[in-house]
Amino acid sequence: MQRVFSGIQPSGGSTLGNYLGAIRNWVKLQDDHDCIFCVVDLHAITTWQDPAALRQQSLEMAAVVLACGVDPARHILFLQSTVRAHAQLAWIFNCVARLGWLNRMTQFKDKAGKDRESASSGLYVYPNLMAADIHAYHATRVPVGDDQRQHLELANDIAQKFNHDYGVDFFPNIEPVILATGARVMSLRDGTKKMSKSDPSDQSRINLSDDADTIALKIRRAKTDPMPLPSEVEELADRPEARNLVGIYAALTDSDPASVLNEHAGQGFGPFKNALTELLVTKLAPIASETNRLLSDQGALTDLLRSGAERAAAIADPIVNEAERLVGFVGLRKS
Ligand code: TYM
Repeated sequence: MQRVFSGIQPSGGSTLGNYLGAIRNWVKLQDDHDCIFCVVDLHAITTWQDPAALRQQSLEMAAVVLACGVDPARHILFLQSTVRAHAQLAWIFNCVARLGWLNRMTQFKDKAGKDRESASSGLYVYPNLMAADIHAYHATRVPVGDDQRQHLELANDIAQKFNHDYGVDFFPNIEPVILATGARVMSLRDGTKKMSKSDPSDQSRINLSDDADTIALKIRRAKTDPMPLPSEVEELADRPEARNLVGIYAALTDSDPASVLNEHAGQGFGPFKNALTELLVTKLAPIASETNRLLSDQGALTDLLRSGAERAAAIADPIVNEAERLVGFVGLRKS
């Protein structure tokens, strides 16, 4: 069985984009892969996090992942900072990745914004840590949303350079697993911008914790255009908001935009938004209530995460020890 690795940041809560673009796919892949899923708290502190909030949000994110259907008995779920191998391999990768490669990363440019000089150095080397997350397990398949594609290409460049520089065939090539629908869920206020937990407007996103009334209000207010839904997918090309809502509907029903249009062509946004709201509430309400149930027993949740960390370290430590040996460390540390 191929090994899957993926991660999610705990900061700021979870959105419909995280669910449709990534977690939904994690759940699907569990049937025929060995999966390792991680709440990436090391990545979170690349931008300022209040310590108490980070602690709480890390547990909440783990609960959300479980509530979406990740099975911790068959697969591994843990917090990134609890397995030292990630930071150890990331340091080696900091010395393998080239500045020129990092300078091309669009997400750094977006996140650092205009005031680059005051961004943390962690934010800059963020993709090297992400490469370490994956390669520490020799994972080969990585389910993510479309926005992570460039980071995964970099992870392959790093693996190739490591293998080349040290004359080995140690880190495998990784393959992004990106769904046809849901891989780019856009803002409800602007169909050209990604739906994101860091958007200042809460109206721009559906949070997985939103209740039915909030979801209904956000969808009712979602930006649209005055035309009815078309019958052909091509006609959505320059209607980003309509395309986004149709895409969300398709992803939630595990179908595709053409089938959604088949069913709803000619309809105005009023009835379509009602149908979409009903679908969202049906899908998301059980996730929110299961998340709350899991959070009500934090002892059980932390036990599960501790066991996940032990199982993860048992895989990653020998791989990272070997990487350290390959680069020339004497290696006297007890493992
Ligand atoms: P993060 O926390 O921003 O997002 C988690 C996952 O959700 C996907 N996603 C989306 N998909 C579709 N539409 C959207 N609007 C949307 N917003 C987010 C992301 O693509 C991602 O798959 N760097 C990563 C976390 C990470 C990771 C890794 C991922 C750390 N190490 C190793 C894979 C492998 C991140 O910040 O994701």
